[in-house]
Amino acid sequence: MHIGVPAETRPYESRVAATPETTRKYVSQGHRVTIQGGAGTGASFPDEAYAAAGAEVADAATAFGADLVLKVQPPTEAELPLMKRGTVLVGMLDPFNTANAEALAAAGLTAFALESAPRTTRAQSLDVLSSQANIAGYKAVLLAATLYPRFMPMLMTAAGTVKAARVLILGAGVAGLQAIATARRLGAVIEASDVRPAVKEQIESLGAKFLDVPYETDEEREAAQGVGGYARPMPPSWLARQSALVHERAKQADVVISTALIPGRAAPTLISVETVQAMKPGSVIVDLAAGRGAEYEGGRGGNCPLTEPDKIVQKHGVTIVGYTNLAARVSADASSLYARNLLDFLKLIITKEGQLNIDLADDIVAATLLARDGEVARKS
Ligand code: NAI
Repeated sequence: MHIGVPAETRPYESRVAATPETTRKYVSQGHRVTIQGGAGTGASFPDEAYAAAGAEVADAATAFGADLVLKVQPPTEAELPLMKRGTVLVGMLDPFNTANAEALAAAGLTAFALESAPRTTRAQSLDVLSSQANIAGYKAVLLAATLYPRFMPMLMTAAGTVKAARVLILGAGVAGLQAIATARRLGAVIEASDVRPAVKEQIESLGAKFLDVPYETDEEREAAQGVGGYARPMPPSWLARQSALVHERAKQADVVISTALIPGRAAPTLISVETVQAMKPGSVIVDLAAGRGAEYEGGRGGNCPLTEPDKIVQKHGVTIVGYTNLAARVSADASSLYARNLLDFLKLIITKEGQLNIDLADDIVAATLLARDGEVARKS
């Protein structure tokens, strides 16, 4: 099969969908690989490394002209016409964005959005949300440590003792748990909150304190169980109690890392404007839900309405980081892990003989299929 790997062109994107390592594997499986010149530069993979792995380095049109196109982000409007009808496109294709899915279908593509893979053991090795969220959680803490005007660890020096930073993590999924682990390595004291009761043990096993907001009704208890491992929107009664607790804990915190997301919905507002106003001067919020929160003053914040996508802003003495693509800021490892996710996914749709075989009886294939034969794939 001819596999094409175009350069990513969307803003703030520096990852690439294949590395020299995965390229070598595709070539050894008998595929022809075309990489667009410069596609790996942002992730520190030079063209020569791809060439040495057996790829042909060519222009965008040749990479998009392949039978199978590997992308990180959805193609732009300008890139869509570069693919012929029937091309198989695999990437993080933003499956909840209906207009995008319709555009892929109208272009006649067979498109797979890997974000839709089920969170099952079998899907773990191709779980792009996990591989990238893990990196985002790590980078969020490092960014906070850089912007925070104090030390993270407790230090006893001849000139006096420095207190350890207090870090509050909101949302303890993949990113939040990695943020806990990273902040802990830096010596911070950590508290974390999540709606799902299952994470309490995970939080505690990483050495953080779980902020408990007990359920008071069956409705709250049931919503907290989530669906498919994901959170569901919680009833307003629970959110109000959580908000009061977050307000109190954020006042004491030096760093807040918020990662709370609900698939297909706006991210919940967890850090209100009043909470930011009450926080200590110099404290830092890193909002991983930036750009995905509720509408606020004509824009979309994140878990905090004051977050501005792709910017670092100062509000009420607090530094708020709204980078929307933190994984891309660790571009080499983010690309390596993502490229391996793709390599594993392709095993499900390409036979050992190198033929395309879309088996909808496979739950991962069925869940990730976004468009085919001019139609957006219907989910049961
Ligand atoms: P996510 O990125 O969708 O959300 C981040 C976190 O925010 C979640 O833990 C969610 O419960 C939490 N959240 C939502 N609303 C909140 C609120 N109001 N307050 C506080 N926290 C809130 O989640 P992610 O990281 O993608 O993980 C989703 C699930 O998938 C988890 O259960 C995780 O353990 C599971 N998982 C399973 C895998 C597998 O078995 N293959 C692989 C990776 C994750």
